[in-house]
Amino acid sequence: MSSDRPSPRLELTVGDITTEQVDAIVNAANETLLGGGGVDGAIHRAAGPELVAHCRTLGGCPTGQAKVTPGFRLAARWVIHTVGPIWHGGDRQEPALLAACYRESLARAGEVGARSVAFPAISTGVYGYPIAPAAQIAVETVRSTPTTVELVRFVCFNDEAFDAYLGMLGPA
Ligand code: APR
Repeated sequence: MSSDRPSPRLELTVGDITTEQVDAIVNAANETLLGGGGVDGAIHRAAGPELVAHCRTLGGCPTGQAKVTPGFRLAARWVIHTVGPIWHGGDRQEPALLAACYRESLARAGEVGARSVAFPAISTGVYGYPIAPAAQIAVETVRSTPTTVELVRFVCFNDEAFDAYLGMLGPA
């Protein structure tokens, strides 16, 4: 990867990631990849039943890794399923695993030629990761990962998350 490649433009918004008009949306999945609540449930509902049928063929996904599927009924052409760490206080490699989710998701996006990617705040819901350090890892990892992706949009679901990302990105 040439080091002179510009890093992606970063955007921040509050909303439902399933409505994002980007090439790929990232799902905060679990290791089975068979759906769940939160953003995982929303994405599966919006994508339709073909998504879980396809996911059944993938054999799951370890924490910190990412797998790409079609988006089916979603506006996004692809869904990148990544599995964030469950927060246990921060001394079980949670920061490294969360960073790996962003890095691996960008790698999958590059492999399919996605130029725009929307991320939720991975691990900050059911998995309990505190939003401020998670937002810092998200922004710092995306900024420091060489990628062919040109636009990364962080899609927050509430104002608390938005404020945490805004603290990292600075006012527009
Ligand atoms: N769009 C964008 N963000 C959303 C949406 C949505 N439609 N729904 C929830 N979120 C936000 C949450 O507010 C949180 O900030 O996504 C972030 C991640 O929360 P979760 O979806 O709970 O995911 P996570 O904390 O990574 O836990 C993953 O939850 O749903 C299950 O199957 C999933 O077992 C896995 C676990």
